Amino acid sequence: MTGNIYDPAFVADVFDRCSPAYRRWSMAASFGVIHRWRAQCVAALDLPRDSTARGVDLMAGTGEIWPHLLRRFPGVSVTAIDISPRMHAEAMERLHRDRTDRIAHHCANWLESDLPDASAGFAVSTFGLKTFDAGQHRTFARQLARVLEPDAPYALIEATDPVGWSLRPLYRLHLDGVLPLVERIALRGAQDFSMIGTYTRNFGTGETVIDALHAEGLAPKVTRLIGGCALLLSGRAPG
Ligand SMILES: C[S@@+](CC[C@H](N)C(=O)[O-])C[C@H]1O[C@@H](n2cnc3c(N)ncnc32)[C@H](O)[C@@H]1O
Repeated sequence: MTGNIYDPAFVADVFDRCSPAYRRWSMAASFGVIHRWRAQCVAALDLPRDSTARGVDLMAGTGEIWPHLLRRFPGVSVTAIDISPRMHAEAMERLHRDRTDRIAHHCANWLESDLPDASAGFAVSTFGLKTFDAGQHRTFARQLARVLEPDAPYALIEATDPVGWSLRPLYRLHLDGVLPLVERIALRGAQDFSMIGTYTRNFGTGETVIDALHAEGLAPKVTRLIGGCALLLSGRAPG
């Protein structure tokens, strides 16, 4: 793959190409664990069960978190932000037609989003942080702090590199060797899903996003899952 892998246009193209197979691939590649991680992210959102807040799903993709979110918080509605038009299209046309009254779609670069200040009653994001570099993590956190209402909760989850975990060599073999091979064979030479190996390795243990959230007064609670294979960050906007 050539080009700047953190250029938003590059990322949008990758996910446009991934969109038709994204849902099945992410489930299969993670042996279904991703489903539980999304549920854990929703469970970490400190919102009353009867909330009627409108919140944001950042880097929403095909909206895989919405069933978890709407089951736990039946009264909420969501503004879904994603830079890939085809990920939005998959979400709207194929997967979540019956939820159209609850979901508003914004096809936009979150790092440049002009969503109004203090307009979100909560924020969630699942697996949308690793395609940002350290500078973009600072912008991500600044934007999050800006759009959240005072004291509004947020929960974010991302796959991380489980540095120091005894099973890390196997995990890396899966991400760096097995998945790229399977993708090349199954998707006729494609190398898009395989990018997760590079993005996850570069994202490391997620320190740059943790630091960025602290810098914006978002004081995240940090939870590491399965030996450090995922990072769950939750907290509230300053009151
Ligand atoms: C790995 S997918 C995660 C999708 C979904 N949240 C999930 O749980 O599976 C990452 C998503 O982030 C989106 N994305 C990446 N950079 C973005 C940006 N700057 N602004 C908005 N969306 C972005 C991509 O288009 C992609 O749909």
